[in-house]
Amino acid sequence: MDGSMAVRLQHRVPVLVGASRSASTCSIYASILHFSTKVTNRCFGSRTPRRFILGLGAAFFPQFVGMAGKCGGKSFFASARQQGISSVEQVLTNVEWPEEFPFKEEDFQRFDESPDSLFYETPRFVTHIDDPAIAALTKYYSKVFPPSNTPGVSLLDLCSSWVSHFPAGYKQDRIVGLGMNEEELKRNPVLTEYVVQDLNVNPKLPFEDDSFDVITNVVSVDYLTKPIDVFKEMYRILKPRGLAIMSFSNRCFWTKAISIWTQTGDADHVLIVGSYFHYAGGFEPPQAVDISPNPGRSDPMYIVYSRKASTA
Ligand SMILES: C[S@@+](CC[C@H](N)C(=O)[O-])C[C@H]1O[C@@H](n2cnc3c(N)ncnc32)[C@H](O)[C@@H]1O
Repeated sequence: MDGSMAVRLQHRVPVLVGASRSASTCSIYASILHFSTKVTNRCFGSRTPRRFILGLGAAFFPQFVGMAGKCGGKSFFASARQQGISSVEQVLTNVEWPEEFPFKEEDFQRFDESPDSLFYETPRFVTHIDDPAIAALTKYYSKVFPPSNTPGVSLLDLCSSWVSHFPAGYKQDRIVGLGMNEEELKRNPVLTEYVVQDLNVNPKLPFEDDSFDVITNVVSVDYLTKPIDVFKEMYRILKPRGLAIMSFSNRCFWTKAISIWTQTGDADHVLIVGSYFHYAGGFEPPQAVDISPNPGRSDPMYIVYSRKASTA
């Protein structure tokens, strides 16, 4: 593709924009404008005020997170900062999960409820987070992935595209990509096979039980409208002790992200993804890592990961 085509493509196809931090101050109309990946204005949301999970506002964190009565919402974050720990990393420590999945059907609605196949029918050969964020993710993968070329190891990149951000030269006998756009998946050099499937229509993963060592998902968990079904499937297809790594930033296709995501912030997102692991069942307690490369200067990058428990 020559340079002019690339520019035209970027103008035609919306790419990720910042979603969460200043969601209260922007117009929803911005979401249907076409932005390039170089957009630095992260302000992108609705006119409705940003809410906290469950509409509990400041009461949210104390209710979910066992803080041993030491601190309330603000002091929790302040004390985490003082200790040099990202507050986001603290979110999943000592969570007291409600008995029932706390989200409702409307939390998974999107501004654009048209079929995802329409939204993703044109390939986007762009990256959705900036280079330092990608480098941080790749570095993280290089620490936790099984060594390249390990016999019998299989990986699945869920919601994949033309890039998976795996370490350079990383290879396994089987690396599967599942996503919405065949042109993108065909171009992904790390994949040994791919599947085009709309997980919001059919969350059943077309793979055998206990078949993957690692499942990755990059900046896409926010598009899943049936996340518990998908996470149950992830559990089913992971090998015992298999690792699921969900990563995300603060950008998204606003119109396609679920409502609970667009109306909440980074720490809430960690809790949301953690809850998917928890309520799907069979996973070890999820953990969060903040791998943001230059906080405040480049895209933040968060990981929520868990392993399939060896015995359910
Ligand atoms: C923002 S892009 C991220 C792509 C890639 N993971 C990356 O890091 O560049 C969102 C991806 O989610 C996938 N996706 C979105 N909705 C989906 C759905 N309903 N079912 C399956 N994949 C979906 C799209 O195919 C697209 O590749």
